[in-house]
Amino acid sequence: MIKNICCIGAGYVGGPTMSIIALKSPHIKVTVVDLNQERIDAWNGEDLDKLPVYEPGLAEVVDQCRGKNLFFSTEVDKAIDKADAIFISVNTPTKTYGVGKGMAADLKYIELCARQIARVATSDKIVIEKSTLPVRTAEAIANILKNTGNGVDFQILSNPEFLAEGTAVSDLMSPDRVLIGGEQTEKGKKAAEKLVDVYKNWVDEDKILTTNVWSSELSKLTANAFLAQRVSSINAMSELCEVTGADVNEVARAIGTDSRIGSKFLKASVGFGGSCFQKDILNLVYIAKSYGLNEVADYWEQVIVLNDHQKRRFAANIVKTLFNTVSGKDIAILGWAFKKDTNDTRESAAIYVADELLNERASLKVYDPKVNEEKVYTDLNYLETRTNKENVELVDVVEDPYEACKGAHAIAILTEWDEFKSYDWNRIYDNMQKPAFIFDGRALLDLEELSRIGFITYSIGKGN
Ligand code: UDX
Ligand code: UDX
Repeated sequence: MIKNICCIGAGYVGGPTMSIIALKSPHIKVTVVDLNQERIDAWNGEDLDKLPVYEPGLAEVVDQCRGKNLFFSTEVDKAIDKADAIFISVNTPTKTYGVGKGMAADLKYIELCARQIARVATSDKIVIEKSTLPVRTAEAIANILKNTGNGVDFQILSNPEFLAEGTAVSDLMSPDRVLIGGEQTEKGKKAAEKLVDVYKNWVDEDKILTTNVWSSELSKLTANAFLAQRVSSINAMSELCEVTGADVNEVARAIGTDSRIGSKFLKASVGFGGSCFQKDILNLVYIAKSYGLNEVADYWEQVIVLNDHQKRRFAANIVKTLFNTVSGKDIAILGWAFKKDTNDTRESAAIYVADELLNERASLKVYDPKVNEEKVYTDLNYLETRTNKENVELVDVVEDPYEACKGAHAIAILTEWDEFKSYDWNRIYDNMQKPAFIFDGRALLDLEELSRIGFITYSIGKGN
């Protein structure tokens, strides 16, 4: 039986996942370790509003379990040594160098973890891949672990995480399914059974699927590719709606009532973001290409091509509508996170839209309820389009949405935060330059109401 769990990586996946395991399994000691001292300090901090990951309901869970059976630490070796099961939940970014640059997943952190486990372990361990990994990574981990010659037995399982940010706690509490891939050997099956027992503490057994390791790894990439493809499909239709006079929300509702299609994930947007979709599809494309499956690779790559186009055309439309120049004009950006209810900004469409507008010399005022100034500048600096000094000159990050919109020529809605719907839009309008424009990249607001107030409106996927 698993009694002591260690998770390497206290990020958006490791933090929430381990918190729920601790909550639902009081008899298991869970230690989340990370190299980043600052992050661990924040997880251990008194102020629950300042945890490194914002997720509705998470602070309450951490508060309930921390110090009882949930611990956050930088003492990686010690936690590895004590654990029966080790989750690897470190990041696997797209490679920025060498073979597979811009496409393949960079597995260096995974390999470092495997080597560290191999070096430290003195008793048998179950090692579980939580990070999304290209097919057959488990084989590489196994090779490192099983050639240590220290007599320790390692069983490697794949247990991809399907939680979506912003709903992590409820996704973890009642998952559609839990997927566990293991080696089809006696020992492999036993290890998988032990992990099944952990999840059985709160998940119905019929929702826990066991497969071989390769199927499990590929299922995770496939799930994300299908989800991203749905967003790109509805976004492709949004452009067609705009030129033909249809309304993409109506189209989505009409097709979503077909039970074969289903209603979820049909919200047109300025483009998908987040740490997973683009990375996983690029990874899939890379794998397909490496097996010579060029048509398969091209098919999936188109999902990214369309997504990039959606972000660019949204920015281009702002410039065109503002009489072909935004140079020196103030534009309010409402929303910087890649979706609502998270403080995560990785690959957020807002970053790319802002970058395009800054290229046209606009001045931006950014407001997001959960994203701070430092993160906005870090995101822009990372693109290396401009220096930090230039970004600071052109972009103000403010803590009040009314302040962001004051004196602006236009507003761009880039994240679907609920609070945007209940703003006093009359007051905002009164304090803007005229004509006052609003560009709704999330088809979120009531356009009729905004037009009545006097705004000139554009909403993604809505034709005239
Ligand atoms: C990551 C990946 O992005 C995703 O593909 C995968 O499915 C799960 O892991 P996430 O938790 O969102 O997701 O990443 P991040 O928030 O960056 O957290 C990773 C943590 O691992 C960081 O806090 C980092 O400091 C830590 N880390 C990284 C280590 O502790 N050791 C390492 O060697 C590398
Ligand atoms: C995704 C997967 O959903 C999750 O199962 C996996 O574990 C990690 O990747 P996440 O990236 O957290 O989760 O959020 P998700 O809700 O999938 O949204 C991704 C992006 O697509 C966001 O930018 C979101 O705004 C966008 N999106 C989503 C749309 O534009 N329209 C939709 O209908 C749904």
